[in-house]
Amino acid sequence: PLKTMSKVCCTCVLTGDSVSGSITFEQSVNGGATTIKGSVRGLTPGDHGFHVHQFGDLTSGCASTGGHFNPNGLTHGGPTDEKRHVGDLGNIEAKNDGTAEIDIKDSLVSLIGPHSVIGRAIVCHAGQDDLGQGGDEESLRTGNAGGRVACGVIGIAASS
Ligand code: CU
Ligand code: ZN
Repeated sequence: PLKTMSKVCCTCVLTGDSVSGSITFEQSVNGGATTIKGSVRGLTPGDHGFHVHQFGDLTSGCASTGGHFNPNGLTHGGPTDEKRHVGDLGNIEAKNDGTAEIDIKDSLVSLIGPHSVIGRAIVCHAGQDDLGQGGDEESLRTGNAGGRVACGVIGIAASS
């Protein structure tokens, strides 16, 4: 008999000049929070902005992934803020060895419905995301997280 599908599973392989990583996404087919897990290596120690960007288009590398995925037209914020881009996942923290372990549960990032992030991109940044608290215009757009050191397209996992 066919196994009833209960979960949507996605994957994202991050690549960059010196940064790489692998991320998985899981959500119930009934909706609810999405669990995002994985690891990134090759980072400088400390916080790095981590977002879903609008386009899964790597034609010009991470530069062509557009801005933060923002279907509701709000300003940039942190993952627990009411005003945030859907793509605002905050920061991931790299240890001294340059690796960051990711274990996020987010209620806005979804794999189903009209705002599904499948086909969009994950971008990891050179610097810390100020979560919209930087006090300047750019903070409310990008969190001043700096350059894009790795990115990848969110796709449907073979194991799903
Ligand atoms: Cu970003
Ligand atoms: Zn944002």
